[in-house]
Order: sequence, then C-alpha cells, then structure tokens
Amino acid sequence: MSSVPVPASRLPTQTAISAEIATLHQDPRCAGAAQQRPRLDFAPYRSSLTRHPTKDLHHVDPETIERAAPCFGHWDVDPLEADLTIGHAGEPIGERIIVTGRVLDGHGRPVQGQLVEVWQANAGGRYVHQGDQHPAPLDPNFTGAGRTLTDDAGWYRFTTIKPGPYPWRNHNNAWRPAHVHFSLFGTDFTQRLVTQMYFPGDPLLALDPIYQSITDPEARGRLVATYDHDVTTHEWATGYRWDVVLSGGTSTPLEQEDDQ
Ligand SMILES: [Fe+2]
Repeated sequence: MSSVPVPASRLPTQTAISAEIATLHQDPRCAGAAQQRPRLDFAPYRSSLTRHPTKDLHHVDPETIERAAPCFGHWDVDPLEADLTIGHAGEPIGERIIVTGRVLDGHGRPVQGQLVEVWQANAGGRYVHQGDQHPAPLDPNFTGAGRTLTDDAGWYRFTTIKPGPYPWRNHNNAWRPAHVHFSLFGTDFTQRLVTQMYFPGDPLLALDPIYQSITDPEARGRLVATYDHDVTTHEWATGYRWDVVLSGGTSTPLEQEDDQ
C-alpha cells in the first residue's frame, strides 16, 4: 500500500525529536529490563507506534515453523561471501574496513557454526533497493550483502566498505547514523536475532530515534563497534571489533521488524 509522503516542511524538526527523546529517557517507566530492548511505542521513532502487534500473538508449534521456514545449510556458504568488496568488475568506492568479533551465548561460550548475514548502504549512504531513491550515487562495484559462518571459537570476519549515513523521513532533516545490519540464526530459526552495528564517535547516534529507542545507555553502547588497531591491516583496511551476545543480561539488543 502506498501513501502520499508528508512534505518535509510539515515534518517535526530534529530539535523537537531530540526533546522527545530526552523526555522519554527521563521517564521512570523506562526503568528496568525494558531499557535493554528497543521500546515498541517510542514516539520519536514515529512508525514504532503503528507497526507492532496490538493483540496477543498466536503461539504456534516451533517445529511447524521449522518445516516451513527458510533453512540455511552450512554447506552452501562460500568463504568469499564474507568479502563484500569483491565479486564485481572493480573495487567499490569508500573506506575499506574489516569488521570482526565473536558470537557468544549468555555464559560467554562461543557459538560455533553460526550463520551471520550482513547488509548495508554503500559509502554514499545508498542501498541497492528500489525503496531507496534519495540522490546519492549507486556504486556498480558494491551490492552491500554478505554472509559467513562463525568458526569453532565463535569468530566471524567481514571485509567491506564503511557505509555512509542516509536520510529517512521520520522527521525533517532526519539522518541514520552509519550502520551495518546483522542477522544471526541461533540453533534454530525461531532464535533469529536481527540488529544493527554502529561506528564509534558518530555524531548522529545522539540524534537517532532508532538507536535511542533503547533507553539504557549501556545497552545502547553494546551496538557500537570498537576501533581496533590490531584488526587494522597495513596499507589495506581499518578494523572494527564487535561481539554479539545472544542471550543473558548483557545480550545484544535486537531490533523491531522493518527498522531502516
Ligand atoms: Fe539501514
């Protein structure tokens, strides 16, 4: 279903959105475990109000889902799929980076053989998707999707291009901080975790209603990678470290469906 876009001049300002975020962060109802996850009704993130269930979920037999849902066998994940900078005629434009880390369970144990999928905008902040028509260039040498499997110690590693920030229509002059989308499959399909990894020092983090919909600052911080000079490679790429914890009190916050 299509809808007529609201003119930019009628959208709320960043100042107004930031004030709403600050007010909600002061709200004592944000206390407790709910802070660790994006809030469903986080008004500064406008669409969060309208697109989550308002009725109880229908509970189904997980085994039934397993039979009908997509299944990813480990035999068809090619190691080259972890390098998003190859597979085209030339090198993509942008800052080449390595993103690596460990996938751990709530007890700090490595999760082996875990399918890790990523997707992201190019260096200009543009997705290869018909829904993204903002005036930034597509890169013929960058598609922005990759996947890999964790090794026996739970490590994953991607080579890619640092994504650019991009505009969205939550409010006037709204920009998403640079981010890489991550999807992880647990030991079965119903444990799938979808989240976003951000970059340290990004000034847009403070302004972003999606990032700020996790009201616990410590939990939010777990979505931000760390620059790691030991991952940085001589004359090749800068390096970032980002660990994912699938369960427990320090788990990585997952996102709502359709987060931009
Ligand atoms: Fe995105």
